[in-house]
Amino acid sequence: MNVVICDDYQHMSTLASRAFIDCLQSNPRAVLGLATGSTPIGCYKNLIDSYKAGNISFAEVTSFNLDEYIGLHRDHPQSYYYFMHQQFLNQVDIQSQRVFIPSGVEENYGVYCQWYEDRINEAGGIDLQILGIGSDGHIAFNEPGTALGSRTHITDLDHQTIDDNARFFDSKSDVPKRAITMGVATIMDAKKIILLATGENKAAAIRDAIQGPVGSECTASALQQHPNVTFYLDKAAAALLHNE
Ligand code: GLP
Repeated sequence: MNVVICDDYQHMSTLASRAFIDCLQSNPRAVLGLATGSTPIGCYKNLIDSYKAGNISFAEVTSFNLDEYIGLHRDHPQSYYYFMHQQFLNQVDIQSQRVFIPSGVEENYGVYCQWYEDRINEAGGIDLQILGIGSDGHIAFNEPGTALGSRTHITDLDHQTIDDNARFFDSKSDVPKRAITMGVATIMDAKKIILLATGENKAAAIRDAIQGPVGSECTASALQQHPNVTFYLDKAAAALLHNE
């Protein structure tokens, strides 16, 4: 695995967007794995600028998002569907029929989760997946204890995740308690993965992900076994890494 310590958020966002631009310039029909959270916003902003400058197009791209809160309709301002469209998708030329974001309001999740996996496989798998990381070491919503062999599934959110995400809601009690998420194994199937993290509240999770044992207590640790993964970190997020 590659670890790049960036000067600051701007630098990290530039390197992350460059990975997407390289991917799209070598394959305009790439399949992209997209993430929510505040961390990738700068990367998405760079991609919008690059699209507007005429350097890249998303016209033939297919995208798959990692996760969604259960119970939030797509027009809820805190739904990940809404977030992705506001922050990124509405501002580039991606075709809506090739945008896949897990639904938070399905009746039969047994069928739906398999349907989502099938769509990823039908598209040929994910070429480039961007990830953030939870302060408890989760990737997507694969909370501590999630099997590393997991596929798209429904999960209960940890107290820490609910606390972390309460800042986006009017009150903590408004944060959904469950989510649909790609599994760890779904993410590991991506051909190339980039993970972004900034700030001291991610430092322990980053240490465990990169230098801890591989196991379900820190699901990001599974990435140690991926053949093409790069962590882009600011100094604060990298502060607890020890030299090896
Ligand atoms: C949520 C998302 C994750 C994301 C994490 C970190 O829990 N499900 O995919 O990585 O938040 O978010 P932030 O980037 O805002 O710290």
